[in-house]
Amino acid sequence: MLSAVDQLLAEGYLETRRGSGTYVPRELPDELLAIRSDPGQPTEVHTPAGPLSMRGELMAVAWQGESWRRTPARPFRVGIPAVDRFPHDTWARIAARLRRQPAPELLIYGEPAGYRPLREAIAERLRSTRAVRCSPDDVVITSGAQQGFLLAAQLLLNPGEWAWVEEPGYPGIHAALTASGVRTAPIPVDGEGLDVTAGRRLCSKARIACVTPSHQAALGVTMSLRRRLELLEWARQADAWVLEDDYNSEFRYTGHPLASLQGLDSDGRVIYVGTLSKVMFPALRLGYVVAPAGLADAFAKSKAVVDWHAPTQLQAEVAEFITQGHLERHIRRMRTLYQHRQEVLVSEANRALGESLRVQPSAAGLHVVGWLPSGADDRQVARTASRRGVSVTPLSAMHMGTGEHRPGLLLGYACYGDADIMQAVLRLKVAFVEGLGESRS
Ligand SMILES: Cc1ncc(COP(=O)(O)O)c(C=O)c1O
Repeated sequence: MLSAVDQLLAEGYLETRRGSGTYVPRELPDELLAIRSDPGQPTEVHTPAGPLSMRGELMAVAWQGESWRRTPARPFRVGIPAVDRFPHDTWARIAARLRRQPAPELLIYGEPAGYRPLREAIAERLRSTRAVRCSPDDVVITSGAQQGFLLAAQLLLNPGEWAWVEEPGYPGIHAALTASGVRTAPIPVDGEGLDVTAGRRLCSKARIACVTPSHQAALGVTMSLRRRLELLEWARQADAWVLEDDYNSEFRYTGHPLASLQGLDSDGRVIYVGTLSKVMFPALRLGYVVAPAGLADAFAKSKAVVDWHAPTQLQAEVAEFITQGHLERHIRRMRTLYQHRQEVLVSEANRALGESLRVQPSAAGLHVVGWLPSGADDRQVARTASRRGVSVTPLSAMHMGTGEHRPGLLLGYACYGDADIMQAVLRLKVAFVEGLGESRS
């Protein structure tokens, strides 16, 4: 660990001050700024005053801004499925049966890679629905996708090495990389997904590219086949990894779903990460990694280092829920419901808000993007909306770099009924009127 910290010191990612310890510097190294497409202001770095270790310092700065805090489940908070429509009775029945007279294997220490029947059910599902190339031996059950990101970063990258992240992108992946001492290069996303040519130009020495090909985490675009092949070709040439975050591929409303990127990879370079947070519920904290050939043991051992394994009874319950067909049934119902809710949101918002917010329909996922007029301050709009009881995510919060970008809002809709959506749109309208007043005064 000492040598990793030494490397961070040598590269300017950490600095020491005589007599007072080691800090994350306010100014990031020149090299980090150089890869940005626009100069802009350096990212604000929180420097804890407390007695944290150097590793602790990295953990403490990993989440940018407030993105790690969780606000109440109210419209239009992003990322939450319709938890009230989950088949709780079925789930309770399965749990009650398994817990009434549990097999001893459900109560003692289990396999770090996860409960075998769950790994079998997930491997089977991924093969048939996502064309993922895997066997149960490749699957490691994690505490959500987030733990998969952290384990992958720590197992595959040295502190000081570079990762491509999507710009805009998911703050959770950025946090896992930063906490592991990995430096992130924000690579622009266009209508085809992460721009591989820009990545080659902006950060040629990256060791991993982190992408959300089925539904780009912020803008919702699907990565084109051409881009997928280009990305895999880059990884082969650069001898690099690709982390595929397939967090909500199940919810596609129009067009044909593209199979996973991992399924196109014949080189063993893709680490596939998935989650049950969107198809079941986020508090379950269960996700999975499909490790590339030869790496499953390393993932399982690192899982054992962190917390031995995911709770076995819970895994057994999920395994039954999947094998009895309840998960696919629930997904099918939710797909219809979410498509309807998206239609309600898009039509209501575009009718009521007009040019203040142009809400764009999305072919997939659990949120849509609303574009603000150029020059608007999306963080300010989000603050004003919050005072009116509406949660919107400013697109700025998903930008890791400092360059200029189009202002916008992310609006989650899956968890909210028609009446709540309509009422929240009206509140947003009031917030826009208030915001206009504020900007004039
Ligand atoms: C892009 C992305 N990846 C992954 C996740 C899921 O993470 P987890 O499984 O840790 O809940 C989310 C949740 O919001 C997400 O937006």
